[in-house]
Amino acid sequence: MEDLAWLQEASGHRAEIPASVRALALSMLEQSAAQELQGGIDTMTGEKADGAGNGETVVGTLDEVRAAFPGLAVPAHLAPHGFWLKRTLWHGKPLVIVAGSNEHGALFGAFALLRRIAIGEDLSHLDVTEAPAIPIRWVEEWDNADGTITRGYDGRSIFFEGGKVRDDLSEATSYARLLASVGINGCNVNNVNDAAPFLKPDMIEGLARIADAMRPWGVRLAISVDIASPQQIGGLKTFDPADPQVKAWWAAKFNEIYRQIPDLAGVTVKADSEGQPGPASYGRSPADAANVLANALAAHGGVVLYRAFVYNNHLDSNDLKVDRARAAYDIFHPLDGQFAPNVIVQIKYGPIDFQAEEPVSPLFAGLHKTNEAMELQITQEYLGQQRHLVYLAPLWKEKLDFDLHAENRSTPVKSIIEGKTFDQPLGGMIGVSCVGRDHWLGAPLAMANLYAFGRLAWNPNLSAEQIAAEWTKQTIGAQPDVVATVDKMLMQSWPTYIDYTGFLGTQTLTDITGSHYGPNVEASEHNGWGQWHRDDAKGIGMDRSVATGTGFTGQYPPWVAKTYESAATTPESLLVFFHHVPWTYRLYSGKTVIQYVYDSHYKGAEEAALLGDEWATLKGKIDPQLYEDERARLEYQAGHAIVWRDAIVQYFLKETGTPDAMGRAGRYPGRMEAEDARLTGYKIIDITPWEDASGGKAVSCDPDSAQKTCTAEWTYKGKPGRFDVAVQYFDLQGGVAHFTLAINGTELVSWAADARLPSRRPNGDNSTRFTARGPDGRGFELKPGDVLSVEGAPDASDPAALDYIEVAPAK
Ligand code: GCU
Repeated sequence: MEDLAWLQEASGHRAEIPASVRALALSMLEQSAAQELQGGIDTMTGEKADGAGNGETVVGTLDEVRAAFPGLAVPAHLAPHGFWLKRTLWHGKPLVIVAGSNEHGALFGAFALLRRIAIGEDLSHLDVTEAPAIPIRWVEEWDNADGTITRGYDGRSIFFEGGKVRDDLSEATSYARLLASVGINGCNVNNVNDAAPFLKPDMIEGLARIADAMRPWGVRLAISVDIASPQQIGGLKTFDPADPQVKAWWAAKFNEIYRQIPDLAGVTVKADSEGQPGPASYGRSPADAANVLANALAAHGGVVLYRAFVYNNHLDSNDLKVDRARAAYDIFHPLDGQFAPNVIVQIKYGPIDFQAEEPVSPLFAGLHKTNEAMELQITQEYLGQQRHLVYLAPLWKEKLDFDLHAENRSTPVKSIIEGKTFDQPLGGMIGVSCVGRDHWLGAPLAMANLYAFGRLAWNPNLSAEQIAAEWTKQTIGAQPDVVATVDKMLMQSWPTYIDYTGFLGTQTLTDITGSHYGPNVEASEHNGWGQWHRDDAKGIGMDRSVATGTGFTGQYPPWVAKTYESAATTPESLLVFFHHVPWTYRLYSGKTVIQYVYDSHYKGAEEAALLGDEWATLKGKIDPQLYEDERARLEYQAGHAIVWRDAIVQYFLKETGTPDAMGRAGRYPGRMEAEDARLTGYKIIDITPWEDASGGKAVSCDPDSAQKTCTAEWTYKGKPGRFDVAVQYFDLQGGVAHFTLAINGTELVSWAADARLPSRRPNGDNSTRFTARGPDGRGFELKPGDVLSVEGAPDASDPAALDYIEVAPAK
């Protein structure tokens, strides 16, 4: 795989950039920078270097530039990793300078120059300096030694296979190049869970090879470590951080690692969380544990990213005062000032877990004497797992820009993690990326998220729109209508996803104990995970107020705390996150909460379909393969948005008994249920959770029966006309079932259920819609009495299960 993502370099004549490129020194990063510049300029300008006759483009450090061009006015100083890009004349010939504060800066500068060329900036008077706002800009991969990737949706690990580091690490190098191009300077390669085996000697050797593979692009290796390693692999009887033997073990281990990886950036720790061992076993604090590692790393210049994602997942769901959202602040706030200077507390953006809608974690304002990093997810664990288009930059921007008003002054999260607000030496932005071997994130448009992560970590003041436009120009096409269309789709995608999934800050309504993908409303309730939304016939939401609830709002600085304390002043997007309200509660619009649930889900499903319509306008204007690939994805997404809409709407309709004022909920014109059909071979089954199937039931063709196929048949009773026919079926793993749709016995279309979707049982994870639009795209002629039928051919463990068919007037 050589998938260049956004580094494809559009062509276009850029005469102001001389095609002759020279590195001023032999350092590895300057050589990479020069090679990158030469390749990019050749492709984009269509010119080939012909010696320095037409001027030159040079890359080096500030000092090297000063020495090479005596008398040239060069900036006195650049911030770490910063660069200066300048176009000037030197002895009458054009000279373009890419100067870094050091060789890293030079490399970042080279990529920045190429980006400016690619997006068509006027460079004739180029003279800019830039430096990264946030010092630690890492991606974290949750790769496991066996080659699987936790929460990865795109094939196997680029680093590991069969318990070892892969022989071929060319993809690690390509990935590092991609990361460097957007200013990322570190990559943690292994899952935060079960990290102990990564510290074994043969694994360290392999990790050193990964570090070698990424080093030419200035991306430093980092690793996750298991705090119990001294016991798990070190043969000690304890991993108590206060034990001198444990301290000595860590010091020796890091000496061993740094002998082989002299530039290891540092380690990430998940402890006392979701089954991971931690210092709590010995009555020690996260600071005790972090500092042992930090002290051992300090001599080598490494840092510890200690995750604040520490909580008890065995909470009592009947206790209305208990609240998982409180955990990070309750545990870490009292430790402020106790962490070593090379520890950074890594805080998920929200108090729960990468939710589509949740408030900023109050802990950002709760640590004034501690380095802080914000952790976010590039992989779309709770946001459609790359099968749904969700551009995440607007979500991240909302968190970065959020002003916590600590100490009664302006303290946006971005300046806290830059280290500015509380005057800390370090700060970070960490993106859990989970790229795999199938084209990194799998979906081409999802790559906008990886791109945006790097750009925002470099400069959190960029807008989501600006980043979308940059990415689109480099990746899809620079024509103004293409850019406008793709940007509109990207910007609309997150609100759309929220509309057809959750509402008013519910937190995820996916199966939290399983896939985190399709709808499963009750999965969050009555268990210890603490992602409760506490809905019943009367109302919904967690009361997190100080006055009557869990007291979570009191963890925020006073101004924010006051806003969230009362339902009336809480932003509606977080209403049920903070408050338990009756279904009849009136929103600002005058609408009740239950009516909002119906309206937003119908709106969301319509918006999802519109994404496909927008994309259709790009036909013939962009790469045909990309066009078709994304078209199919958006068609799937629009179908899955209907699954979501119907699941949420029918669930809360039943729970509340409140009809939809618009008359839509529970009424599906043109829908014919499989359980009501004349069935041959098919058996009626209950779907779990019930809301994932229309009417709670479906039909399944037992793959073990003698029969090869099963059939469901309906007599059409509606008005005559031209119709599209949608077939809702369950596309299960472990087999490729086939379906055939026929009218009056004439086969119209067949298709294979060959998608890779979660879950081995038919449910909302794999409920899929296939819409037949007729041979010319104008639908099928239907009249009363016509017989519609679907034949399902099961395969292995996929029983060709069917939910319903639905006819709708052709467009
Ligand atoms: C989520 C995710 C887990 C992961 C955890 C974490 O809960 O589902 O797979 O381990 O986050 O951040 O550690």
